[in-house]
Amino acid sequence: KKVVLAYSGGLDTSAIVPWLKENYGCEVVAFVADVGQGEEELAGVEEKAIASGASECYVVDLKEELVSEYIYPTLQTGAIYEGTYLLGTSMARPIIAKAQVEVARKVGADALSHGCTGKGNDQVRFESCFSALAPDLKVIAPWREWTLSSRESLLDYLAQRDIPCAASATKIYSRDANIWHISHEGGELENPWNQPSDQVWTWTAAPEQAPDKPEFVSVMVEKGKVVAVNGERYSPYQCLVTLNDIAAKHGVGRVDIVENRLVGMKSRGCYETPGGTVIMAALQAIDELVLDKSSRKWKETYASEFSHLVYDGRWFTPLKDSILAAAQALADCATGEVVLKLYKGQVVAVQKQSVNSLYSEDFATFGEDDVYDQSHAEGFIRLFSLSSRIAALNKQKQS
Ligand code: ARG
Ligand code: SIN
Repeated sequence: KKVVLAYSGGLDTSAIVPWLKENYGCEVVAFVADVGQGEEELAGVEEKAIASGASECYVVDLKEELVSEYIYPTLQTGAIYEGTYLLGTSMARPIIAKAQVEVARKVGADALSHGCTGKGNDQVRFESCFSALAPDLKVIAPWREWTLSSRESLLDYLAQRDIPCAASATKIYSRDANIWHISHEGGELENPWNQPSDQVWTWTAAPEQAPDKPEFVSVMVEKGKVVAVNGERYSPYQCLVTLNDIAAKHGVGRVDIVENRLVGMKSRGCYETPGGTVIMAALQAIDELVLDKSSRKWKETYASEFSHLVYDGRWFTPLKDSILAAAQALADCATGEVVLKLYKGQVVAVQKQSVNSLYSEDFATFGEDDVYDQSHAEGFIRLFSLSSRIAALNKQKQS
């Protein structure tokens, strides 16, 4: 029997390798997704997996695909979970699950495993994707089965088996990183009355310590996708990397929220999404110019729906394709340029233009113009509010 484990090199998945072998009598193949979590996390990960007892380790580079096939399409919908969360962890789960299933097929595995706890969203996301892509494969979620409950017990478990592990007994935060964001949960954050300590943030500068001079960055948007930064055309991935560097320096992209998990409980998380925050601001600025009132309202509807779809792990569904198709139709006119001002944690779109702009200085002006006759407004308002007028007249008659 063979299991493919989504392996990170951290303490939990290091213990899962021997645990699976002992409890399921199976061969364990480690699968590592490179989603841009960084050199530090990936360094020596194959050796680590083998040292833990994996028979093989596959490291798959998913960075470009994550940005172009998952993040950019999601951005076109305008999805933001509960008004604030840019879905960094959520968007990465389906591509990781898909690549894991591909490895399982390649090695002829009969089961899939992951290191998510039984209290979180990630288990739901992984397993919903597994259901959609590989209904025939068994899923093993050790956190829902084993009795190891603390970092100490996991370290003991490894020590008893002479498996080396550099992890320390005290790791305060649970973090999840990729090229789009890093999340921080746990530790003092579990009490929403506690402010995050300085050790929470690992990527962006503290706004107080950010440069005293603002920086202006130009972003080119084509059909709802960022294609160039400061006049240089890059791949979607490279655009994001470039914006991450600029935005992180200025402390842009920190949020601190309490959110509703899919599994019923609330949790408190601090997230850093530097480049993503700039991209979102740029796309919103273009929308302001090109979308009429009804289109914007429709976009708000599917943006909200899509934020839940992504958060809840329903990526491999016809609903995903349906909403993305709707979003693409409106994104087709989202082309233009935005200049954003980055300063001490803030990003503001200070210049915007689009060939498809519906904004017309000629018509909006308080001076003279020749398409908008102010006397037409009277009849419009009269009919627009007609039902209110009739209701009020009825009331008057009855009293
Ligand atoms: N609360 C966020 C989400 O549900 C972040 C989860 C972080 N996951 C993790 N395994 N540390 O998307
Ligand atoms: C976990 O519980 O594995 C991480 C947090 C989450 O999935 O929401």
